[in-house]
Amino acid sequence: MVDQLTKFDWHQRVEEHGSPLNILNACPMDASIEAIRAVGRQGGLDVQLHYAFKANKDIVFVKTAKQCGIGIDVASETELRRTLQAGVSRDRIVCTAAIKSKALVDRCLKSRVMIVIDNRDEWDLVGERARALSHPANVAIRLGGFRQGTQRDQLATRFGFDAEDDLHFLRSSHAPNVQVSGLHFHLEGHDASQRVLAIETCLSRIASLRNEGHPISFLDIGGGFPARTWDDPDFVSASDWFGSILDTTSEQSTIAKRLIENRVQLRCEPGRALLEGCGMTIARVEFCKPCSARSPESRDPGDWLIGLAMNHTQCHPTYGNQLVDPKLLPRRLKQNHPMRGRFVGDYCTEFEFIAQRTFEFPNGIERGDLVVFANTAAYQMHFLESSSHQNPLAQTLQVGP
Ligand SMILES: Cc1ncc(COP(=O)(O)O)c(C=O)c1O
Repeated sequence: MVDQLTKFDWHQRVEEHGSPLNILNACPMDASIEAIRAVGRQGGLDVQLHYAFKANKDIVFVKTAKQCGIGIDVASETELRRTLQAGVSRDRIVCTAAIKSKALVDRCLKSRVMIVIDNRDEWDLVGERARALSHPANVAIRLGGFRQGTQRDQLATRFGFDAEDDLHFLRSSHAPNVQVSGLHFHLEGHDASQRVLAIETCLSRIASLRNEGHPISFLDIGGGFPARTWDDPDFVSASDWFGSILDTTSEQSTIAKRLIENRVQLRCEPGRALLEGCGMTIARVEFCKPCSARSPESRDPGDWLIGLAMNHTQCHPTYGNQLVDPKLLPRRLKQNHPMRGRFVGDYCTEFEFIAQRTFEFPNGIERGDLVVFANTAAYQMHFLESSSHQNPLAQTLQVGP
């Protein structure tokens, strides 16, 4: 997306819209979706994708996901409302919110949106509300804490029912309005072998739940598809990663074949992988000052502190993201005057750093220059975003292909 840098006068745009400025381009999303779908098709699998809305607040990605024919994973009542307003069909929405209020559950029920149940209280709440509203509930059960043999707590998580929980409440509680039609998990990180273990466990749980009369039709493996945010030589693309999971040998077969043989539709909820190359964040340099020995983070007497008109929550890496070296858009031609330094933001703490490292500027850097952080659409621009000192939140500009 940094190709866009020469197309516009960004100095003028930042002057008009303020710093930092988030730039979005949803075009690459189409190819990212298609690459994952193609892997499913090659394996003969029925794969249904849901874009995880939480990765970026902007509705443009929900609309693009809809145009590409995929569904949406929502994590709050607002995400659900905006997704419905964007015209996404309710049967292509899944609600995986970590906290589900009565209001959210009611909205899901009234909209007939699939709810992923995380715990017993949620199960009871959904049953109660389904009865009260006389709306049937369609749910999936989230499992977590998968383990192999004696490797207990290998994949400890606060989410879902323990993979070894016998889910007795599904047999004992009277919830005629609640239909369990799927199993779900979402794991932190990108470890493909952990997904294989989780899928194998879920396949055996699906078999027993079906024997008990639950019409389980799908397994949702959540997100965690890798996204390239910096030049990592060991990077495995989302589609290769997905393919490696499906091709893994399992019980003299493969994961893909076992899903097909068991008539299990595979669902997934990629967030970051679908936003690769879809956004950047531009900030204006407000000052450059030599790092003094008094500074708690001073590393090298020659280093500079570079003050940006933004705060650290407006471009913050999450798991699997890293801030690549930013591009510099100088306000004027510079002399060859190399500098190195760290970016500081506008929050009033000693440790208000944008990126936890030092950057090199071979031609120097000065007040009025613009700094461009690439590939920030997935979580980096929005996940922690706050305006504690009441500077306005960043504006967003859409740019075309
Ligand atoms: C339930 C669930 N699904 C999907 C995702 C998306 O994950 P990612 O953006 O890593 O693909 C998340 C992220 O936290 C999640 O919690």
